[in-house]
Amino acid sequence: MQIAVVGSGTMGHGIAEVAAISGMEVKLIDVSWDILNRAKERMTDSLKRLYERGVIKDSPDSIMSLIEMSVSYDVAKSVDFAIEAVPEILDLKRKVFNELDKVVPKESILATNTSSIPISDVAEATSRKQKVIGMHFFNPPPLMKLVEVIPSKYTSEETVDFTVDLSKKMGKTPVRLRVEVPGFVSNRIFLRLLQEACREVEAGEATIEEVDSTARNKLNLPMGIFELADYVGLDVVVDLWKVIVERGASDVKCSSFKRKVEAKELGVKTGKGFYTYPSPGKYSKVKLPQESRLKPERLISLAVNEGAWLIENDIVNAHEIDTVMKLGFNFPKGIMEMADSLGLENIVNNLKGIYNLGYKAYEPNPILLNMVSSGAKFYKA
Ligand code: CAA
Repeated sequence: MQIAVVGSGTMGHGIAEVAAISGMEVKLIDVSWDILNRAKERMTDSLKRLYERGVIKDSPDSIMSLIEMSVSYDVAKSVDFAIEAVPEILDLKRKVFNELDKVVPKESILATNTSSIPISDVAEATSRKQKVIGMHFFNPPPLMKLVEVIPSKYTSEETVDFTVDLSKKMGKTPVRLRVEVPGFVSNRIFLRLLQEACREVEAGEATIEEVDSTARNKLNLPMGIFELADYVGLDVVVDLWKVIVERGASDVKCSSFKRKVEAKELGVKTGKGFYTYPSPGKYSKVKLPQESRLKPERLISLAVNEGAWLIENDIVNAHEIDTVMKLGFNFPKGIMEMADSLGLENIVNNLKGIYNLGYKAYEPNPILLNMVSSGAKFYKA
């Protein structure tokens, strides 16, 4: 199997690495040798770490030998599958897809790793709309087990099946959305966590450190919410927030993230965001207080409401939402599972309380209201 990956940044180099670990021949394409050489260093470093921990059996050198790098699309002329992972700019993505469409064999699939741009908009730049699909990896790709598979309104069943199968061959667990929604499952839920975290802080109900302490110490998440935002990149967070809200999701007024981006403090990648890191690009776990005023059910209530919306609209079911959160974000439990154990009534009461303060996004979803009145849970005990 031969795969092309276009874009060798944070996600692209990780996806190329994952494909090579699975024994695939990879053609990694970017615009300059400087960028590609940086990607090579990052892949080699990551492979060494995986090798030392016994996660991979083949030597980093033998895996790296499967990756050919190029500044030209010509290397993609016989690939079976191509994945685009360039910055989240629609015009740029359309340009890349147009190039790929010219070079990649007509029967091969073109996938985008976008986290927020509509797949149909990208597909329309090609002459093979039914063979274009969303294949959304999580950072860092070598460690995170999830791939969201997102068909556009044009994508054929055959394309979906092939992509689901390929995700498995890459050692990932695919979650397939039945219909495309902006932000997919992952980033819609992530956005709601960010919004509530931000609202808490801006309303003076908790500090940034308290929000993150609740996330890490009470919900046992691997990172706090602001810490995760720093890790993902605050520019990426602001972009995905904008795209999801512009395409119809209700907003929660909050300026903390935008202000950080305006100050060019983008998180781990610049060495400073809400927290300070050892050097640009180097993440180290943030130190947090043990105590927090914020209750865990309050922090997740808006995210659970979003989960209910996804179920109501038949995008995915509760189990699939939880798979996304466990395998895409390394949550120890899914968000709907957490809602069950923290009490759906508590979740709804939090939503009602904040809704009554004038935040429309917190209007409890009818699914949650019905479940509370009938005493139902997402999972049977
Ligand atoms: N390659 C190989 N190994 C890596 C690695 C990489 N890219 N990154 C980290 N590791 C290794 C480390 O070397 C370390 O190994 P040792 O235990 O042998 O020292 C191990 O993984 C653990 O790493 P750390 O000690 O640095 O820190 P940690 O224990 O906190 O784990 C983490 C790091 C796995 C990233 C963990 O914090 C985590 O799961 N965080 C959540 C990440 C997440 O939510 N990602 C999704 C973001 S959303 C997204 O990507 C989609 C989008 O559209 C925005």
